[in-house]
Amino acid sequence: MIFVTGGTGLVGAHLLAELVLENRPIRASRRSNSNLDRVRRLFLQLGRTEAQFQAIEWVELDLLDGPKMFDQLKGVEEVYHCAAMVSFDSGDAKKMVQINISGTANVVNAALENKVRKFCHVSSTAALGPAPNGLPVTEKTKWKTSKRTSNYSISKHFAEREVWRGAEEGLSVVVVNPCIVIGPGNWGSSSAQLFQTLWEGMKFFPSGANAFVDVRDVVEAMQRLMKSDIENERFLVTGENLSYKQVFDWIAESLNVPAPSIAASRWMLSIAWRWEWLQEKLTGKMAKITRENAHSAQQVRAFSNHKAKEVLSMEFRPVRAAIKLTANYFKKELAQNSTA
Ligand SMILES: NC(=O)c1ccc[n+]([C@@H]2O[C@H](COP(=O)([O-])OP(=O)(O)OC[C@H]3O[C@@H](n4cnc5c(N)ncnc54)[C@H](OP(=O)(O)O)[C@@H]3O)[C@@H](O)[C@H]2O)c1
Repeated sequence: MIFVTGGTGLVGAHLLAELVLENRPIRASRRSNSNLDRVRRLFLQLGRTEAQFQAIEWVELDLLDGPKMFDQLKGVEEVYHCAAMVSFDSGDAKKMVQINISGTANVVNAALENKVRKFCHVSSTAALGPAPNGLPVTEKTKWKTSKRTSNYSISKHFAEREVWRGAEEGLSVVVVNPCIVIGPGNWGSSSAQLFQTLWEGMKFFPSGANAFVDVRDVVEAMQRLMKSDIENERFLVTGENLSYKQVFDWIAESLNVPAPSIAASRWMLSIAWRWEWLQEKLTGKMAKITRENAHSAQQVRAFSNHKAKEVLSMEFRPVRAAIKLTANYFKKELAQNSTA
């Protein structure tokens, strides 16, 4: 039995669509208000059958429910832990830190108690510190905080520590650290929001750079690791290092909308996040720019995918193609919703 947390998310849903091809029993966690229909539609879009979707045993489970987690992992051989809260809103910090760290501790403890054979944890490049002198971040880069470190980074770093603690207690673990993941998901959450935001219109682009990866590459790396003899190692899963301008231009081009044309300076972003914060308080509409993502989008960061290429023989898909595919999916859903 395979157990997947966060099966309704961007990474988790794509992982499930690959795992069903292995014809092994799968149990996946969902929450009471999770949108299972989106996962079903993704399955059909990816060429899976209704029967393959129905074959998944969905269990209602919150990461913070430790006792229920223990029960649901009975008889499980492999765990893929994809669930996490992804937010750069300071108002979510307390909840996110609890879900990501205590929630991961619960999954690790349940896996240890149920003698799970192997555990794959989805961490993040955000769980690693910055590399010195602008060098690319590698698997060995040490964690270092500053007053600008986001709450999301902190939550992902300490969540990963829970997994290493599990390894010390005897759990066989592998960890993937993806960068910004490109793929069709919930357009209102995580990195899939980029498409919704650009679609709604954006005049400014941030001056920073980051790494981007096709969701299918993230899933492929996870499966290769779980099928290998590798244990207790971390792998950066990062496709290409690109400027936000380049990525925003490609998204806009694929969505047939105007690309953001004004380079946002530090002071512009500092006004923008305050304005968005006020709007959110007044109207309840989620802020597109927060203090934390405004800062991180100004940073120029690069990541090395050397280890994944060498050890896992990964050949990363071009990010531009991933954007095109995701944008097509976005437009198709938009058209379906407008005729529904
Ligand atoms: N997307 C990226 O760019 C990116 C980059 C690096 C790392 N990651 C990591 O990749 C993993 C998956 O992210 P994603 O992009 O797939 O995020 P996502 O689309 O927002 O999905 C998050 C998933 O976690 C579930 N979840 C959240 N809180 C939960 C809780 N308290 N109990 C149980 N389930 C909970 C959600 O369930 P609901 O459907 O009920 O909301 C959803 O299935 C996360 O660990 C994230 O940190 C993502």
